[in-house]
Amino acid sequence: MDSKKIREKFLNFYKERGHAIIPSASLIPEKDSTLLFVNSGMFPLVPYILGQKHPEGKRLANSQKCFRTDDIEEVGDMRHTTFFEMLGNWSLGDYFKKEQLNWVFELFVDELGLNPANLYVSVYRGNSKIAIEKDIESVAIWKEIFLKKGIKASDVDFAEKNGMQGGRIFYYPDKENWWSRAGVPENMPIGEPGGPDSEIFYDLGKDLGHHENSSWKDKHCHINCDCGRFIEIGNSVFIEFVKKEKGFEKLPFQNVDFGGGLERLAMIAQNKTSVFEADLFLPIIKKLEEISSFKYRENTKSFEVIADHLKAASFIIGDEKGITPSNKQQGYFVRRLIRRAIRHGKKLNINLDSWLKLIAVEVVEIYREIYPEIEKNSSFIYENMESEERVFQKTLKKGLKEFDKLKNENVISGEKAAFLYQTYGFPIELTEEMARERGQKVDLEEFKKEMKKHQDSSREYSAGVFKSGLGDEGEKTIKLHTATHLLLAALRKTLGDEVFQEGSNINSERLRFDFSYGQKISDSEIKKIESLVNEMIEKELFIKREEMELKKALKSDALSSFKEKYPSRVSVYSAVDKDGNVFSREICSGPHVEKTSGMGLFKITKEESSSAGVRRIKAVLIE
Ligand code: ALA
Repeated sequence: MDSKKIREKFLNFYKERGHAIIPSASLIPEKDSTLLFVNSGMFPLVPYILGQKHPEGKRLANSQKCFRTDDIEEVGDMRHTTFFEMLGNWSLGDYFKKEQLNWVFELFVDELGLNPANLYVSVYRGNSKIAIEKDIESVAIWKEIFLKKGIKASDVDFAEKNGMQGGRIFYYPDKENWWSRAGVPENMPIGEPGGPDSEIFYDLGKDLGHHENSSWKDKHCHINCDCGRFIEIGNSVFIEFVKKEKGFEKLPFQNVDFGGGLERLAMIAQNKTSVFEADLFLPIIKKLEEISSFKYRENTKSFEVIADHLKAASFIIGDEKGITPSNKQQGYFVRRLIRRAIRHGKKLNINLDSWLKLIAVEVVEIYREIYPEIEKNSSFIYENMESEERVFQKTLKKGLKEFDKLKNENVISGEKAAFLYQTYGFPIELTEEMARERGQKVDLEEFKKEMKKHQDSSREYSAGVFKSGLGDEGEKTIKLHTATHLLLAALRKTLGDEVFQEGSNINSERLRFDFSYGQKISDSEIKKIESLVNEMIEKELFIKREEMELKKALKSDALSSFKEKYPSRVSVYSAVDKDGNVFSREICSGPHVEKTSGMGLFKITKEESSSAGVRRIKAVLIE
């Protein structure tokens, strides 16, 4: 069964069960400014999980583009990828555990044809520290489900210590069976939703000798063992909690958030033992075999790094909000992915000066039907890959020579690492990886100090990039979001109707807004824009939300962003005064304040060019 069929079957299955199919959101988050990429299907749905009404209803499903920065180092084990497609379904205060677990099992076994005897599941062990109990409800449901297939499933605790003990249902703690965007409960910021989950694993079989031949052979094997015998293929999260100052509270209603990696399902359905040998990667692997002097199985790690990284880079550059290689934020990841791929290309003896495009062409071919933006933006992808390649190929050889000279040191000094970065463009993680391969370490602390001396390129190292914290849905952020709408209205009033939104990024400190406009905004125009926004705030406008068909919303002159893909039903937010005069009207997923009073004083802190024909404004609200 090819991946297209699996995707189709998944979406149809949930459509038949009353779910609206929503489009994949962009890989670049709309409002969270510290988590750099969308890492799960639920990410764009957080406001609805917290209680806002979704215009498409209470049952949703989709296939969402995801990128996980944390998994960059994991690539190379035949199952991890940084970019992946998450098949997801959601209940927003509708069905809960019973329907969810029954459906996902039915889908996997009856629709996708997986052998139920190879399926194992995990459930939440409970945690007295946060006063959340063990999930015996899911255990009972799972037992019934397995029994229907003639399988007597028993539940077992502490498999990580004592092994499988003939069980099929296993309890695990927070690290394995609690899910939130930020991970375990203690890492969650206030206001973040999360909950216990239940994962499904597929047994690739003892016969493959995974455990016996692994470094875990002296320990008991269990479904979360790292030996590779079991692979996780789906996760049902029961999001019914939100973190508050004093601990966890129940949300107004119980949500289900399911996610399953399409690449892994394709691997199982196609009887493979590596996701890179299933159809979403195979053409890329074949192309690499063609242009290198190796076969995939001779060097799985380098093949996987190149295939994964160039696919991810293609998707990030080719996104609706296209990101190009740079030294900052998302752009830094694109640079890192591309440069690491080029260096692994050397390991495979790829001697072409320019070969990245050959791989990107395969990526476009695999995905052009399902993600049309990747074909639409293909020249942009190729151009950016080629220019990054040109720059790095020029310095790579010399840089490798320099690196070679350091082979007798135990620790590569921060100064040397900074030199490799500044002179030869070696991302620090690349230097670290090469050092690791030779059994060396890198002095990271000193590296950071060295980089600080060169402020502009280093700033992001100490700040955002390494941290995958979360932007919040806090009150301040919401106020700034509403201020962004008022700003756009004021910009259009002052500069003209050719002003449209090009991009927006908001955190609890400031808003950042990109918009189409050809020239610098003068000081007097800035003053005017500021006072217009402040006037609107003082007028105590109400923010009204309506739901309607996208077509109707566009006809009603609600502003939209060209870069966004909208579902067929949308929310429209209008700022109106008590006489019903409309000051701003935009298609938007919220959230917003109810009333502009109390938002504070609006102040523009910066106006600059963002790219050709696009200006950028940063602004704050002073309370
Ligand atoms: N959001 C859940 C996950 O990513 C489904 O595992």
